[in-house]
Amino acid sequence: MRLIHRVDELRAALRDARECALVPTMGNLHDGHLALIERARRHGAPVVASIFVNPLQFGAGEDFERYPRTLAQDCARLADAGTDIVFAPDVGEMYPEPQTCVVLPPLADELCGAHRPGHFQGVATVVLKLFNMVAPRYAVFGKKDYQQCFILKAMVRQFNLPIELIVVDTQRAEDGLALSSRNAYLSPAQRAEAPRLYRVLREAAAQLERGCDAAGVVAAAEAELTAHGWQVDYVAVRAQAGLQPPTPDTRELVVLAAARLGTTRLIDNVEVVLPLHAG
Ligand code: PAJ
Repeated sequence: MRLIHRVDELRAALRDARECALVPTMGNLHDGHLALIERARRHGAPVVASIFVNPLQFGAGEDFERYPRTLAQDCARLADAGTDIVFAPDVGEMYPEPQTCVVLPPLADELCGAHRPGHFQGVATVVLKLFNMVAPRYAVFGKKDYQQCFILKAMVRQFNLPIELIVVDTQRAEDGLALSSRNAYLSPAQRAEAPRLYRVLREAAAQLERGCDAAGVVAAAEAELTAHGWQVDYVAVRAQAGLQPPTPDTRELVVLAAARLGTTRLIDNVEVVLPLHAG
């Protein structure tokens, strides 16, 4: 496995590869990230993992400075997982001058975007840059970041990028908590409370399946989280297609949430397909 910090070196290393698969990350890798590497390897093409804590996607007062940076440990795990190249540029290499940015559709200002202004523009811009640097045939992302996947799929389509975007299911701890680098911020008491987010979303999905109305389901989920000390950014029921509020005919739904325990913001989502008799 090669560790590369510069774009010109990266391009030289990839010159002879017919196609490759890219797994973009911000490092501090856990088994969720490694599941993406494993998925990327299925194509038999060289696997490039990028590690870059992207300042453009963090707002003022967010955790850019304290985001855990664990490059040596990450490289050891990536090597074990069969990664061919780790691309870890520094901020000066990624953004040597004021940056042209991707302008996204209105969905980028909803859900997580409503609470993190500019976040998805930062994500889309760095991912587009990584796509141009690596020129992958495949790029692998995690379903935990549901809105991110949706926005990036739209970008690939709308910019006609010759890349197949692959989405891998959310990897979870045994108690259901979605694996996340930010789980490391949780105190033991918060870590014990954290699995409630997924339980509440599954309960919301079950209520929708039984035909309960979305507004009531959302209110109940928010109330349960708030009662247990969470500060809820949002709980929302959206159509899987389009990620817009569902119409009475929509059967393929997703329940999404973002909520904070202390200063730690966690997100999760559960998909649900309504049976024909519901509603
Ligand atoms: P990061 O949070 O490091 O996540 C990198 C990738 O791992 C994303 O595609 C994310 O959805 C996926 N992932 C995280 N936790 C997961 C889990 N429990 N199960 C499955 N996949 C999981 O997402 C980002 O970085 C950044 O926004 C990035 C796309 C790299 C752009 O900067």
